[in-house]
Amino acid sequence: MSILKEKQMQIVIGRDAEDTKKYGSAGTINIGRHIVGTGEDSHFTTPVLMDILRPHLVVLCGKRGSGKSYSIGVFVEEMMKLPDEYRKNLCSVIVDTQGIFWTMKQSNEKDVVPLNNIGLKPQGFPINIYVPEGQSNTFRKAGVDFDDVFSISADELSGDDWLSVFELRATETIGILLQRAVSISRKKGQYSLDDLINILKEQEGFSSEKLALENMFEVARSWGIFGQSKMPKLLENGKASVVDVSLTSQNVRTLLISIICRKIFGERTIARRKEEIAETEGIFIKKTPVCWILIDEAHNFISSSEKPASQDILLRIIREGRQPGIGLLLATQRPEKLNQDALAQSDLLISHMLTAKSDIDSLRSIMQTYMLFDITKYLIDLPKMKGVAIVLDDNSERIYSVYIRPRQSWHAGSSPVAKL
Ligand SMILES: Nc1ncnc2c1ncn2[C@@H]1O[C@H](COP(=O)(O)OP(=O)(O)OP(=O)(O)O)[C@@H](O)[C@H]1O
Ligand SMILES: [Mg+2]
Repeated sequence: MSILKEKQMQIVIGRDAEDTKKYGSAGTINIGRHIVGTGEDSHFTTPVLMDILRPHLVVLCGKRGSGKSYSIGVFVEEMMKLPDEYRKNLCSVIVDTQGIFWTMKQSNEKDVVPLNNIGLKPQGFPINIYVPEGQSNTFRKAGVDFDDVFSISADELSGDDWLSVFELRATETIGILLQRAVSISRKKGQYSLDDLINILKEQEGFSSEKLALENMFEVARSWGIFGQSKMPKLLENGKASVVDVSLTSQNVRTLLISIICRKIFGERTIARRKEEIAETEGIFIKKTPVCWILIDEAHNFISSSEKPASQDILLRIIREGRQPGIGLLLATQRPEKLNQDALAQSDLLISHMLTAKSDIDSLRSIMQTYMLFDITKYLIDLPKMKGVAIVLDDNSERIYSVYIRPRQSWHAGSSPVAKL
């Protein structure tokens, strides 16, 4: 694969004509190169820049091993390399379901040559890694270099959250009992898991349901997510965080993501309101950074067929997140399994190789404009190598073939090779 020494202009994705005229290439991240030509005859040309001034909804898809998690790392590296004037107005939170992003602190010495070819060097990044408080020993023993622990408090969970995480229905006796205990606890203000269990015990009758619920709460204690440390401040200027939920079961993960996203949404909504008032009154206030939430294996958190605990808040961010300033990147192997609102509302779709017909069809259904293009042909024409993708940009109504650049930091997600 050759790299043309080109003088062509750069391609900016995620920016409409008006913003392109206004900002040019300022406030963009450099995600890779435009691919010209097809298959073996293709070559890399113009740098591809992505707008980071506006909060976008990005869907990043591709089959197993096609480069999704790797690309998430590239986006965050690039955000951290932005000039101060842009970087300080942004922060990012990666939801790490596989425990693979902590290695971003280390440099990628394996790819010195491909990095050199595009004028980059291996480099580690000062990313902040957070693991659940009750799992810290396990992470420590595994040699994970984390920065701090996080925990949630029982009073941050609504009745619906508990129902969802225990997989109970609101209409069954045990579900009604659970909601009653939560509602009584809420009236008393702050409460712990112990307080909740005590209130449950005080309820009259339903002894077998009470016992079953008590057991469920005891199991919840062993998840390692309830504790004293609370949430670290994620919305800090220029900060990149990784919330490692890799050792947490899927239904508990969705609960954690729901709580984290609700907090971010709440804080950003209040901050935006204050910023708007300050703007109209001409007062200077310190800005809360716009937040990018990057979720790997996102179909488990916002699904087309189920309703995980994180579904409602993610749908809310999708529909309303532009106003408070929340960018969302949803990575998935199976776009078909991702909630269709996420696909329909996305303004940037980056697709690494996909082969399942149902997945390609679900992409086709996104934007009518792209009916003109044969997405399958674009995918087939991509050179057979890792990191290549097509980009459907709804802002400029263009489609591009792109090679996502090599990582500067270490990527821990490669597959093991069964060889002596
Ligand atoms: N842009 C790239 N440049 C060079 N190599 C890449 C690139 N993207 C991916 N790779 C290689 O492909 C491997 C698999 O990528 P990655 O872990 O991102 O796959 P994935 O799509 O997240 O897979 P899964 O769905 O199984 O999680 C990486 O370990 C890396 O070696
Ligand atoms: Mg992955």
